[in-house]
Amino acid sequence: MLTRRRLISAAVLWPLASNVLAQTCGRITPRQTEGPFFKTNTPQRITLLEPGAKAPRLVVAGQVLSPDCTPLKGALLDFWHADEHGEYDNQGFRYRGHQYTDAEGRYRLETILPAEYPGRARHIHVKVQPAGGRLLTTQLYFPNQPGNQRDGLFRQDLVMQMSEPGAGAFDFVVA
Ligand SMILES: [Fe+2]
Repeated sequence: MLTRRRLISAAVLWPLASNVLAQTCGRITPRQTEGPFFKTNTPQRITLLEPGAKAPRLVVAGQVLSPDCTPLKGALLDFWHADEHGEYDNQGFRYRGHQYTDAEGRYRLETILPAEYPGRARHIHVKVQPAGGRLLTTQLYFPNQPGNQRDGLFRQDLVMQMSEPGAGAFDFVVA
């Protein structure tokens, strides 16, 4: 039963709740299709670099955060992307690997720049799952790519920040 007293306390608490909501890390990272090339049981590793790979190097780094900006320790990130020819390794695990965030919710992926392939902008696939939380499947994009505007899946809010070519930054916000 909604009593007069409860109504008053709700009115008092409301501004507090609004303040808490204002301290967000932005919107929850949008979901995207996993596409046709996801594979389970990837190796746990931070570097996907293959011996002798000649493609330009890429490092992607950032944090996994809750909506109230808490860094999430031990969150799973499972990455996969096309090789320098725009092809996925569907037999083995080239350019596939998973890792977990550190105590500050940080991750770091060392790999090559994936090539574009027909119909798609340059992108990296990833699944992110906080410990005991819900799995988020999405894709990361590169800034200022001619292919971005031709790809119906492309989203500006999934573009990595790149201060220099080969160094991408992206923070995931997960529920
Ligand atoms: Fe893809």
